[in-house]
Amino acid sequence: MIKAITGTNDILAEESYKWRELEKLVNDTMSFYNYKEIRTPIFEETALFSRGIGDATDIVSKEMYSFIDRSGLSLTLKPEMTASVARALIEHSLDKKQSLNKLYYISPMFRQERPQAGRFRQFHQFGAEVLGSQSPLLDAEMIIIAYDIFAKLELTNLKVKINSLGITESRELYKEKLKDYLLPHFNNLSEESKKRFEINILRIFDSKEERDQSIMKDAPLLIEYLDEASLEHFNTVKKVLENSNVPYEVDPKLVRGLDYYCHTTFEVVSGSVGSQSALCGGGRYDGLIEQLGGKPVPGVGFAAGIERLLLACKNENVFDVKEEPLDVYIILLNAELKSDAFNSMLELRREGLRVDADYLTRSIKAQMREANRYKSRFTLFIGGDEYKNGEYLLKDMSEGNQFLFKTSDMKGMIKKIRD
Ligand code: HAM
Repeated sequence: MIKAITGTNDILAEESYKWRELEKLVNDTMSFYNYKEIRTPIFEETALFSRGIGDATDIVSKEMYSFIDRSGLSLTLKPEMTASVARALIEHSLDKKQSLNKLYYISPMFRQERPQAGRFRQFHQFGAEVLGSQSPLLDAEMIIIAYDIFAKLELTNLKVKINSLGITESRELYKEKLKDYLLPHFNNLSEESKKRFEINILRIFDSKEERDQSIMKDAPLLIEYLDEASLEHFNTVKKVLENSNVPYEVDPKLVRGLDYYCHTTFEVVSGSVGSQSALCGGGRYDGLIEQLGGKPVPGVGFAAGIERLLLACKNENVFDVKEEPLDVYIILLNAELKSDAFNSMLELRREGLRVDADYLTRSIKAQMREANRYKSRFTLFIGGDEYKNGEYLLKDMSEGNQFLFKTSDMKGMIKKIRD
């Protein structure tokens, strides 16, 4: 039997309405903040991601779904959206049409990671990117949007962690200090961290190995080496968060796994989803557009993982949305009236009501069971003496009240259903 690929999920009907509700919440929230939706292709040239995210990152060096197409081009299924949005900005000169571009997206992403709870190979993100301003207000706005959405879902077991990576110059200076600190400990580092020492030294902070963690415990921190302007930027972000009632903690070891970041980085983690606890992550990336061949355009953004978010909701028993019930389920009393019933059903549907009927010529009892299964608000009986008298019998399923309508008075019946 052919099965879905490991790390991918079917979102079945019993779940997909939740996805739609969540997507509606995202669309609505983004529109309150005046973000416009962008949709980019599922695959891009591999070079976009290797240049944008960084060759030394785990995503690029280990996790991308890359393949050569029939024309010999190396393509990659998008592992994240920031590089794609940056590419689209450059390609369509969006920065020339508008000085500030506020964009958002909801899209599948692909990374060949080891699957586990909350970590998949095809997963979905929603996120936002603002391109064209260095204002720290926008760094804060990213965190606030994510926090607002999580709050509307009524998630509580959350922690907002923020940090600043400053500008390249202070970061390079700091990397030297970190090297000096780590050199005497080099032989005690894990093999992975030895590699990172050469190619991406900041990521040693992310190591889960105890031997690395005990060495990093006393390492100098980047935040202590920030230049004055970066510190001021960071302080403003913090002040805006405080004024917006977003509780946060500064985590000076939060370095994040993508190379494009500068200044603010952040994550929102949940205590309700196990080890893959980051519900969202983001930060500022003032150098990315230039690195991809565009004019310098500063940017900041975030992305949240939808699967993890829904898992957190499930574990906290919140966002218990119910699927919309049917308005009407038609109970057919005489099988020979099938086509009349079908016509009535169509008429109601075309008036914008949710209506269904039995297609399997089942017993009345079985039809009533279906009506209950769909939690239909009304049942409409077609057939029997009423129908012979030119009438429909409409029954309100919650109160049990019954109403008779002339078959010529569809309008009257529709009004009753709508009220
Ligand atoms: P990221 O931290 O790689 O950042 O991913 C953001 C979120 O996507 C994570 O916090 C997590 O919830 C979800 N996620 C990531 N990988 C997986 C996976 N394998 N399975 C399930 N969920 C996952 C970015 O992608 C950046 N583009 C965020 C950003 C936007 N920075 C600036 N702008």
